[in-house]
Amino acid sequence: MRILLCGGAGYIGAHTYVVLVERGHDVVVADNFSNSSPGVLARLRQITGRPVPFQPLDLRDRDAVTGFFAHQAFDAVVHFAALKSVGESCERPLDYFHNNIGGTLNLLHGMREAGVDRLVFSSSATVYGDPERVPVREDARLQVTNPYGRTKLVMEELIGDLCRSDAGFHAANLRYFNPVGAHASGLIGEDPTGIPNNLMPYICQVAVGRRDRLSVYGADWPTVDGTGVRDYIHVMDLARAHADALDFLVRERRSLTVNLGTGQGVSVLQLVEAFAQAAARRIPYQVVARRPGDVAEVYADPSLAERTLGWRAELGIEAMCRDAWRWQSQNPQGYPMA
Ligand code: NAD
Ligand code: WQD
Repeated sequence: MRILLCGGAGYIGAHTYVVLVERGHDVVVADNFSNSSPGVLARLRQITGRPVPFQPLDLRDRDAVTGFFAHQAFDAVVHFAALKSVGESCERPLDYFHNNIGGTLNLLHGMREAGVDRLVFSSSATVYGDPERVPVREDARLQVTNPYGRTKLVMEELIGDLCRSDAGFHAANLRYFNPVGAHASGLIGEDPTGIPNNLMPYICQVAVGRRDRLSVYGADWPTVDGTGVRDYIHVMDLARAHADALDFLVRERRSLTVNLGTGQGVSVLQLVEAFAQAAARRIPYQVVARRPGDVAEVYADPSLAERTLGWRAELGIEAMCRDAWRWQSQNPQGYPMA
C-alpha cells in the first residue's frame, strides 16, 4: 500500500515508519516538526537503507492539506499528528482544540476529497480517565479529565460519525496505553523538548546525567508499593500494531476501536528498578506529592486486539528499559541538530 504518516517524524510515527517499510509498503512522512526534529529523517534512512519520502505539512493549513492530497494517491493514512502534553493543554486549551481537532478535520476533508478511505488514528487510554475497574476494556465508560484527553475523545467521535455516514470509509482507533522504549538500533527514540512530562524519558535523562533525580509523584496510592501503576508498551510492539490495523482495514472492510497495551500493570518503583538493572546504574529518586490529575492504576485488557488484529505485545519491561537506555546513552542530547 501507499501510506501517508501524518506526524510521522514524531516518536511513535518514526518507529511505525520502519515497520511499514519492512513490510514492503510505500510510505510518505508528513510533519510540521512542531514537536520533532528533522534529524529523525536521516536516522530513518540509515535504518531502512533508502531515502525517506518527506512532505512538510501543517494540518492546520486546510488549503495546503487539500492541495497535497490533490497531487498524491494514497491507500491509507496513519494519523499521529497531535499536541500531547496534558499540562500544556490545561494552560492552552484553544491551541489543542485548533491543532488536534481542527487539524484532524482538515485531514479528513482532504482524504474525502481525494477518495482515501482508510484511516488509522492514534487515540489514547486517556479517554478512560479514572477507570472504574482494571484491566480496562474498550466498552468501559469514557470520561476525560483534561483538554488533551477531550481532543482525543472528540476526534474518536468525529471519525465515528464519518464512518457511519459513509459505508466505504473505515477507521481503526488505536488506544495506546504508555508507549516506551526505542528501536533496537538505538538510532531513533523518544526525544522530548524541555523537561520530560512522562516517566520513562525522565528516568532516561536522570540515568544519562541530564537531571539529578526523579520525583516520584506519591507513594501513598492504593497499589502494590504505593506508587502509580501503568501499562507500559514497547514502541516496536505498538508500531507493529499499526501495520496489523492497516491489514485489518483492507481485509475486513470495517472500523474498530482497540486497546494497545500488554495487560500488565507496572509501578513507578518497579520501572525504576528494571531500568536500573538494564542500565547498570542507580536512579536517584525522591518521593514528592501526588501530581494533580493522576490516577492510581490503569492497565489494559488487550484481548480484543488479539482477537481482531491477531496482535499481542511481545516485548517485556526489560526490553523496554534496555532499548530506551540504548537510545538515550547513544544520544544523550537526543537527535543532532539538522
Ligand atoms: P510526538 O509529539 O513525538 O509526535 C507527533 C508528531 O506530530 C510530531 O512530529 C509533531 O511535530 C507532529 N505534529 C503535531 N501537530 C502537527 C500539525 N498540526 N501538522 C503536522 N504535524 C504535526 O508524539 P508521539 O508520542 O509520537 O504521539 C503520537 C500520537 O500518539 C499523538 O497523537 C499522541 O496524542 C498519541 N499518543 C501518544 C502517547 C504517548 O505517551 N506518547 C500515548 C497515547 C497516545
Ligand atoms: C506514569 C506514572 C506518574 C513522571 C500520560 C498522559 C496520557 C498518555 C501517556 C497521551 C504515573 C508517575 C511520572 C515523573 C512520576 N499520553 N511519574 N514522576 O500519566 O500515565 O499518561 O502519558 O495520550 O494521556 O496522561 O504517564 O509517564 O506521565 O506517568 O512519578 O516524573 O509515573 O505519577 O504514576 P501517564 P506518565
